[in-house]
Amino acid sequence: MTIEQNDFGNHENSLSSQERNGLYKAIFSRRDIRSHFLEGKDISNDVLVRVLNAAHHAPSVGFSQPWNFILIKNRATRNKVKESFEKEFQKSILSLDDDTLRQKKYSSLKLEGVMESSLNIRVTYDSTRFGPFVLGRTSVPETGAYSVCCAIQNLWLAARAEGVGVGWVSILSIEDLKKILSIPHHVNPIAYLCLGYVSEFADKPDLEKANWLPRLKLNDVIYYENWGRIHEKGRWSDFSSAVNTIEEQ
Ligand SMILES: Cc1cc2nc3c(=O)[nH]c(=O)nc-3n(C[C@H](O)[C@H](O)[C@H](O)COP(=O)(O)O)c2cc1C
Repeated sequence: MTIEQNDFGNHENSLSSQERNGLYKAIFSRRDIRSHFLEGKDISNDVLVRVLNAAHHAPSVGFSQPWNFILIKNRATRNKVKESFEKEFQKSILSLDDDTLRQKKYSSLKLEGVMESSLNIRVTYDSTRFGPFVLGRTSVPETGAYSVCCAIQNLWLAARAEGVGVGWVSILSIEDLKKILSIPHHVNPIAYLCLGYVSEFADKPDLEKANWLPRLKLNDVIYYENWGRIHEKGRWSDFSSAVNTIEEQ
């Protein structure tokens, strides 16, 4: 979608159209980055502070702010993380051995940029922070981890606004990483992120370009009033047409 083509309606509390364009541009042009890192170009302290401060201002269940950010530059540490990736990647390749074509395609994908990026960040979740009672977490314990994911998304978008690429690497052994980074038993690692300036932000996800999976249509993931109802003739029909229109742009 071309953001510039949008004719935004205004509301007294909305951001100016220029500000909204900036936000939507960051959202639509954010990518998961594993290659195209510019090696040797460091992220300045000012930029890194702004990006982490954006993460730290994410919503969190009961305002528990249960995140920590372990900043990792040391190459020996990163080498150990890369070894964990290689081990887990090989394991995951084997889990596809009943589908040799898909296995071949999967093995050819570049799924991490641990060494090529200029900085790695382990984002963790501490369920004991301000606990054991955390307002709002009593029925759904996962809301703690969800809060950390909100922080990660803030970080990802702020980094995009700063021209910094971020890649999330999840093909890692939690136990290996806890040992490598001396993470205490009660703290859960949520994300391993690789950050750095990049030569480009691709227009589409790498996995879409590689024909791994297509982007779903927005209208196919919206249900009306009940699970599974994708077509609504009554009160939602104008909205449903509007969704189709945005997809045609
Ligand atoms: C929880 C999570 C874990 C992910 N783990 C990996 C990973 O291990 N390796 C990888 O290459 N990408 C990983 N990604 C990135 C996704 O593949 C990527 O977001 C998706 O393909 C869409 O591409 P885009 O982020 O460029 O829009 C992860 C993303 C999320 C949200």
